[in-house]
Amino acid sequence: MKQRLLFLGPPGAGKGTQAQQLAASKGLLHLSTGDLLRAEVQAGSELGKEAEAVMARGELVSDALVLAIVRSRLAQQAASGGGGWLLDGFPRNPAQAEALGQLLEELGQQIELVVLMELDDGLLIQRLLGRGRADDNEAVIRHRLEVYREQTAPLISFYRNKGLLQSVEAAGTVEEIAERIGSLLD
Ligand code: AP5
Repeated sequence: MKQRLLFLGPPGAGKGTQAQQLAASKGLLHLSTGDLLRAEVQAGSELGKEAEAVMARGELVSDALVLAIVRSRLAQQAASGGGGWLLDGFPRNPAQAEALGQLLEELGQQIELVVLMELDDGLLIQRLLGRGRADDNEAVIRHRLEVYREQTAPLISFYRNKGLLQSVEAAGTVEEIAERIGSLLD
């Protein structure tokens, strides 16, 4: 089974929902940079203070900050014997993707599958407004979608050209989508 995975897709596509379930059922490390940053904000750490206003605007937190978080988690896991992981919300731009490639080379690991979750804007917005997280108001959601198109969407061709990318229709029930993703893992 493929066990070194990236979940890519616009805000609200269901990356976190699917990643959490899959990681729990397959024993993978779930690394959500959004969740890790929100935990730092909640803890009131220096890192959280730096990230809070940027996240509230729906912009990307600095690459250096996010990379430090990911590096320490992946290196720690590799040092304790390795195992599978699922990166959710990272990388988010070409610089992060390059840095991840270098980090994995250092660790002697490779991405095995990139899952692109695709959903219409109307449904994305509806899902996010229904959730109501601090950054889930309509103006910020629209800005997050713009940031996704400008900075993150270039990763689709980046990973497609490496032969790693598979797309999944992200409309339907959580169970239906989980089944679509599960069928890509063998
Ligand atoms: P992040 O936390 O990564 O948010 P996001 O990409 O905007 O994604 P969301 O969590 O909003 O959506 P999701 O696709 O995970 O969907 P979910 O499963 O939650 O990033 C937040 C911020 O942190 C960024 O804006 C940035 O500032 C910063 N950040 C994070 N990573 C960064 C990085 N690498 N570099 C720089 N900055 C970074 O589902 C959404 C809702 O839909 C939920 O309510 C869920 O219950 C519901 N739902 C899910 N599936 C279904 C379904 N099938 N049917 C109906 N409802 C569903």
